[in-house]
Amino acid sequence: MSRLKVLVTRIIPEKGLEMARAAADLDVWQDEVPPPYEVLLERAKGVDGLLCLLTDRIDAQLMAAAGPQLKVISQMAVGFDNIDLAAATERGVPIGHTPGVLTDTTADFAWALLMAAARRVVEGDKFTRAGRWKTWGPMLLTGPDVSGATLGIVGFGRIGQAVARRARGFNMRILYHDPHRSPDLEQSMGVEYADMDTLLRQSDFVTLHTVLSDETYHLIDDTKLGLMKSSAILVNTSRGPVVDQAALYRALANGAIAYAALDVTEPEPIPMDSPLLKLDNVIIAPHIASASIQARTKMATMSAANLIAGLNGDRLPNCANPEVYK
Ligand code: DGY
Repeated sequence: MSRLKVLVTRIIPEKGLEMARAAADLDVWQDEVPPPYEVLLERAKGVDGLLCLLTDRIDAQLMAAAGPQLKVISQMAVGFDNIDLAAATERGVPIGHTPGVLTDTTADFAWALLMAAARRVVEGDKFTRAGRWKTWGPMLLTGPDVSGATLGIVGFGRIGQAVARRARGFNMRILYHDPHRSPDLEQSMGVEYADMDTLLRQSDFVTLHTVLSDETYHLIDDTKLGLMKSSAILVNTSRGPVVDQAALYRALANGAIAYAALDVTEPEPIPMDSPLLKLDNVIIAPHIASASIQARTKMATMSAANLIAGLNGDRLPNCANPEVYK
């Protein structure tokens, strides 16, 4: 019997590849950068499964190019805004993703960004390397206290809640905004629900943990940034397009807010001529919030498990479109 065929769109941690290799013949894209869309269309032809990343556009055309034998699409990420879920469901193709295993890792990184921005760690490092450190200075690189400040969390899912748990250790007032209000969590975690505008007006730090959807596209625009405190710090580890980057530049450049720390941009990578890169009051990381060795290994094995279940015709352990089984 001939072996099943799977396209893997990048080299992923070996444990995941090993699992997938035992179940199918793999065509693994070897480049550091993702396959161009046209190449993806070509390489996907005739595959039984696709193990992909958030950098791949997975749309109806691609699924059609793969062909009717396509049994499963497994993404090594929790988010799946790059995949046309409706098209997959219509074709009866389940989509796998990796929730849970990167929650703490991502929350840790949101905190790393928040602390680095508040306490000007990146600026301090640049200052030292530039030979500008002459003496201890009473006013040198001062920033706001994190302890006791107000934290606004936009999007109170798994990662937003993990960020809140860490904030309790800093004795913060914690506001959250989410389409689903949860009085139980408010009580058990000591957090307060706030409408979006109140959260933006009252928070010293605002951290974004929403999915990217039509509702959240450019959620943080000129108007919303205008509501924030001029001393506020914005952290984004969700998706770049949740923030209108041109509006963010204006807000940072004219002092409408104090600082931003971004793990995600629109587009990715951020173009080197982006005006944001000229500002000192912004930190930009290359989408690495889930990049711990442990989390990435778990993401790889989890996406392999989803892939294998799909190839075998079993229900995916973590399926983004469960309606496909109805
Ligand atoms: C995800 O999983 O969606 C993150 O953005 C990358 O880990």
